[in-house]
Amino acid sequence: MSPSFELETPLPGANFAGRLRPVAARGAHAIVEAAEREPGLLTEALAKSEGLLLIQGLDEIAREPELLLRLSRLFGPEIENYRENLTPPNFWHETVPEILVLSNKPPCLHKPPKRPDPPLTADGKFPTQFPHRKGWHTDQSYRRPPPDVSLFYAVTPVAKEAGQTIFANGTLAYEALSSELKAKVDKLEGLHCYSAYGRNREAALKGETPPPLERHQRSQRQPVVRVHPVTGRRSLYICEQGQMDFIDGPIIGMEKGPNGDGEKLLFQLMKHMTSREFIYVHEWTRGDLLVWDNRCLVHAATWYDAEKEERLMWRTTVSGNPGALYAGEKKSWIAEGGAQQSAAM
Ligand SMILES: [Fe+2]
Repeated sequence: MSPSFELETPLPGANFAGRLRPVAARGAHAIVEAAEREPGLLTEALAKSEGLLLIQGLDEIAREPELLLRLSRLFGPEIENYRENLTPPNFWHETVPEILVLSNKPPCLHKPPKRPDPPLTADGKFPTQFPHRKGWHTDQSYRRPPPDVSLFYAVTPVAKEAGQTIFANGTLAYEALSSELKAKVDKLEGLHCYSAYGRNREAALKGETPPPLERHQRSQRQPVVRVHPVTGRRSLYICEQGQMDFIDGPIIGMEKGPNGDGEKLLFQLMKHMTSREFIYVHEWTRGDLLVWDNRCLVHAATWYDAEKEERLMWRTTVSGNPGALYAGEKKSWIAEGGAQQSAAM
């Protein structure tokens, strides 16, 4: 695909995802420079890898975070600035405002998700499928237009078999649906919410009246099936209970709320999408960079022992090519006066 890089796809243990390996370049500086000499290479590699691209050996980024920003710019025109929205300062990177810091250490103190209950499946395996595995989402789907890709870099990952990131491929999952179900979901829209605004499933189950929201904080409709602007393929575009609005949704036009018909369909689709044949589990190594396409994949973080381990990850978010559906739309999360919807994880 390029004189400077080779693409291995799929990744071991999965039916999608790819690893981009430099032919000669060694170290993050040389890799970034080689990628910059071939504009379009990284987005092409991401599309060929069906939305999940791994680049390893980028340890120098930990000392030179601007390199992560340079790589991010090769995936699209807009890089989110976490100091311009209301992301709390404990998530800010010291010198690069486009980097979101996720760490269990101060000042960030970001907690890992809970362990699945029970921790293993009935046949002793690491659980990956919804609803046993929870937390599946696509980044910032509560915004219109939603972002294109996220870059996630391991400064200090935890030991293997914990703190993984799991991905499920919405394109393969959609293509495996029956033609009847495809015809049904093609026409539907989901209602996505920011998890802290009292509208997710847990909040709806408590029965409390959700607080009023300003226009730029409100839940957003998204198609249940998105057409990818680069590949033209259709993908499921859904989250589960934490990032869907269970007060007025989760599916527009279907019975609302927990245990309604909308939830039944959503959970049926999420269980299908997180089946073994559509997932990839990434065990992190220091210096790994994973780039995921939020337009066609969902992901979930996994537990690690935050009392014993130290984890430091950096994230950037790239936008600007959401597809024809969103053409000309104003950013839903920015108010006229400039106020922005809070945190951006
Ligand atoms: Fe995420």
